Order: sequence, then C-alpha cells, then structure tokens
Amino acid sequence: MSADGPASPGRFITLEGGEGAGKSTQQRRLAAWLRENGLEVVETREPGGSPGAEEIRALLVTGATGRWDAVTETLLHFAARRDHLVKTVRPALERGAWVVCDRFADSTMAYQGYGQGLGRETVAAFYDLVVGDFRPDLTLVLDLPVAEGLARANARNGSAAGDENRYEKMDLGFHERLRQGFHDIVAREPGRCLLVDAAGDEDAVAAKVQAVVRERLGGRLE
Ligand code: TMP
Repeated sequence: MSADGPASPGRFITLEGGEGAGKSTQQRRLAAWLRENGLEVVETREPGGSPGAEEIRALLVTGATGRWDAVTETLLHFAARRDHLVKTVRPALERGAWVVCDRFADSTMAYQGYGQGLGRETVAAFYDLVVGDFRPDLTLVLDLPVAEGLARANARNGSAAGDENRYEKMDLGFHERLRQGFHDIVAREPGRCLLVDAAGDEDAVAAKVQAVVRERLGGRLE
C-alpha cells in the first residue's frame, strides 16, 4: 500500500497450489486480516468469479477426466478468466480494492501446461492473447506433497465439495507434474511468486502469508 491511504491503487494477490493445499482457508484468513487493516477486499476464485465464468467452471470441474483435450480445456479456462477479469477483477482494482483470488493463470500453466503436457510456450501464448501485460502483484504458492494434498481433498469431498472433483480424479503422475510446474513457476519469477510450505498448521501458514504480504506489498499493514 502506498502512503496515499484509501486512494491508493488496488492490489491483486493470487493463491495457488495443488489439491488440498488449503488455499480457500488461507484466502479467508488473508482477506479478514486485510479488512482489519481498513482495506476493501474482494474475495474471488478461478475458474469462476463472475456469473459467466461460474457457468464455464461447471464444464471444467465436473464429469469424466478425459472430457476435454488439453487445448479445448485451456481455452475454456482462458474464456472464464477473460470474463472474470473484465467483470470482476479490473473494476475492483480500479476502485482501489484489494483482490484476493483463489487460483489464477499459474494454475493453467501448472495443470494444463505441465500436468496435461500442453507445454509452457502454448499456455504463455494464450496468456499474451487473452490477458496481455497484466500480472498479479503477488502470488503465493501453497506447497504440499501430492499424497498429503489428495488425502486432505478426499476428506473434504466426503463432506461438502460435491461432484467438483474432476481434477482430483486424475492420476498421480499428473499431480506430480503440476507440483513440479508450480516449483518451476516460482523459480522463474521470484519477484512475483513465493513458495509457502503448507504442511504446517493453519495458524502458522496464515502467519507466514501475512508476513510475506506485509513485506512485499504493505509497509502500513499491521
Ligand atoms: P478449486 O478446486 O481450487 O476451486 O479449482 C478447481 C480445479 O480447476 C482445480 O482442480 C484446479 C483446476 N484448474 C485448472 O486445471 N486450470 C486452471 O487454470 C484453473 C484456474 C483451475
């Protein structure tokens, strides 16, 4: 946050990671802390985050694992992303809100680029075409061994998440590749991205997230 107070520009923070890494919980906690600091915060997610993008989400997160080929799937994610950016994210940033987003384009790079084998160049080309120069101000990648994340995700599905488990059903090799993808993304863009060990308890991870946001984005955050 700049010294301009409420008139300062909005910030775009994205939370990334594999299945079961605790992004949604950390999103809620980060948003609550930013609000305590007097900021307007918009919590949103991908795929989804606008009415049109939520409709596209249903095509992506339910049904058989082989429902789409990798290019079609990537185009659907970018179609949802475009609508989300135009309808939700940009208007919020323009009025000075801080946007905390559960997943963004690094998920496409990790899941489709690495996991589904589409490759970095193709995903980057779609990004340039659809999103252009816009990038998150900060991306926190919550990192967890694959087996642990999938076990947590399965436990969650037993209770609430319903049939939104298309990616969780994909094979272990897919999940290992996408985890490696997230590691590569962080290594390539250390100024924007940071890997956060998500194996600790919820409070410890939340404290780490706050410390990073304070250090990188907000001298006045307490
Ligand atoms: P969620 O379970 O974190 O809400 O995300 C829905 C699923 O969509 C998750 O398994 C990851 C996947 N996904 C992609 O494969 N590519 C993307 O670009 C995004 C945003 C999500």
